[in-house]
Amino acid sequence: MMNENLIELGKRTAAEKAVEENVKKDMILGIGSGSTVVYAVQKIAEKNKGDHLNLKCIPTSFQSYQLLVENGLNLVSLDQYPEIDLDIDGADEIDKELNLIKGGGGCLVQEKIIASNSKKLVIIADYRKNSKYLGENWKKGVPIEVIPMAYVPIMKKLESLGGQPVLRMAQAKAGPLVTDNGNFIIDVNFGIVKHPSELNEKILKIPGVVDTGFFIGMTSKAYIGKEDGTVLIITK
Ligand code: A5P
Repeated sequence: MMNENLIELGKRTAAEKAVEENVKKDMILGIGSGSTVVYAVQKIAEKNKGDHLNLKCIPTSFQSYQLLVENGLNLVSLDQYPEIDLDIDGADEIDKELNLIKGGGGCLVQEKIIASNSKKLVIIADYRKNSKYLGENWKKGVPIEVIPMAYVPIMKKLESLGGQPVLRMAQAKAGPLVTDNGNFIIDVNFGIVKHPSELNEKILKIPGVVDTGFFIGMTSKAYIGKEDGTVLIITK
């Protein structure tokens, strides 16, 4: 605790409170991706064992799958359980309407599929993610997953929508990052986005776009871990 910096403190307190308040016996859970979700999965595993909760978990990425395996949680698939009780996930940015930018970790498509098949989406994040408008704090752009052969024309079309697109490159491999679904990601800086729903609709119409990192109107509740160790809870 003494060495835990404020960002990690925010992530952990938000994750633990969200699990404490929302995870109940016999639930089918969607498990998001990213660094904040790690704290949630640890807490879920502890509760599952201690309170005999009989939880079944569906991952949203390879990272999330590995996390569930490592923590000894029961893995199931969307084919078996297409109706999820609760999805817990992180976000790159959250606006005042609880719209999100996601996909900073490259996992947006499966995350959106799981979120859209969940009765409730609970978002966990530290204080840096909380904004009035999307694009205010998250400056890396809106992640957009695309079919590889279409990335050049898609980038041109994103420019004509007012964005500054950049093909996301891999870290320890020459060339672009390849998602869990075998696609590319284009990060597009649109500046401050006051009407994300309209922009999202336009982007989704471009052939070759698989999905965007805009999660519009999907969030039920956000848990924001603050610097002072308290958690701000925003309900839709
Ligand atoms: C993964 O692609 C993202 O959508 C994550 O949910 C998001 O980037 C949040 O990640 P952190 O919890 O690591 O900030």
